[in-house]
Amino acid sequence: MKAMSAIAVGALVLLPVAANAADPPPGATACSGCHGSSATADTPVPKLQGRDAGETVAAMVAFRSGERPATVMDRIAKGFTDDETRLIADWLAAQK
Ligand code: HEC
Repeated sequence: MKAMSAIAVGALVLLPVAANAADPPPGATACSGCHGSSATADTPVPKLQGRDAGETVAAMVAFRSGERPATVMDRIAKGFTDDETRLIADWLAAQK
């Protein structure tokens, strides 16, 4: 009986950790408002899920510097630091 409750407590402690690993970093959920979040979403804005993280970061840097013309992404890219952009790009790349 004592061993059983130790296992139950262990499972409760592990669950929140697993949930955190899958949680999007700050800002990442804002992207899906415009960028389709599923392979079948019908939108002209390119899908970001599963895209190579390096590509996403490079695009964000180019939008921020104005090197790459944009309608809205220049302003959005300026809202994130390099570290935040990297975290978002890594998370997006890991999504299916
Ligand atoms: C308000 C709508 C909107 C939001 C929110 C938004 N985007 Fe975009 N995104 C666009 C549009 C529109 C384009 C096409 C370029 C342009 O006109 O600015 C684009 C283009 C891009 C591209 C280039 C894709 C390609 O293949 O050409 C990347 C990368 C990108 N966005 C990343 C992001 C990330 C990361 C976020 C969240 C931090 C985000 N976007 C949030 C509208 C949005």
